[in-house]
Amino acid sequence: MPLVIAIDGPAASGKGTLAKRLADHYGLPHLDTGLLYRAVALALIDAGLPLEDQAAAGQAARDLDAGKLDDPRLRERAMGEAASRISAVPAVRAGLLAWQRRFATDPQGAVLDGRDIGTVVCPEAGVKLYITASSEERARRRHRELAGRGEAASFAAILADIEARDARDASRAAAPLRMADDAVRLDTTDLDADAAFDEARAIVERARGDAA
Ligand code: DC
Repeated sequence: MPLVIAIDGPAASGKGTLAKRLADHYGLPHLDTGLLYRAVALALIDAGLPLEDQAAAGQAARDLDAGKLDDPRLRERAMGEAASRISAVPAVRAGLLAWQRRFATDPQGAVLDGRDIGTVVCPEAGVKLYITASSEERARRRHRELAGRGEAASFAAILADIEARDARDASRAAAPLRMADDAVRLDTTDLDADAAFDEARAIVERARGDAA
């Protein structure tokens, strides 16, 4: 049975790092689905279109070249905010769904991380993790990460961003951020990256054991 690991959680929870490490550990392909939403936002911005243009956003999602997700602008703070806004548009979500599902059906299995992987994209995933951490800790991590890339922003501004993004992602009507009923919650507030990885791997091993 291919191993599909679905990882969800709020902004800057560390789910991306964990997803990458789990993918490396199990030799599986990894998809950061947040990049797809960021790429749709960037396509609108590059075309000079407003983020409110829902028809254009839906078209950009359907036209997305998912092979081109390495533009460094996708990682910028403003793009996370823009992605959160366009991700509430049902046509955008629908436009990206089939591609994500195809990725998840790789015969080897796959690791996907995002907001709705366990609930919508891969409801049949063998392992579902919901990664979280306090908003202050997430803001501290994001602050460090942005500073490391030379993108200056105040801690207060980042915390405000994170809280606004959580509220928007959790309250939208289309596929809101929500823990799947059968997901295992992992709070990484007091864990460093290695401890979080050890816990996540233990959860995967338990879930595989249960399924065997
Ligand atoms: O994980 P991220 O910060 O790169 O995601 C950016 C935005 O994209 C996030 O605020 C909401 C949206 N998103 C989503 O709605 N569903 C996903 N599966 C992944 C991201």
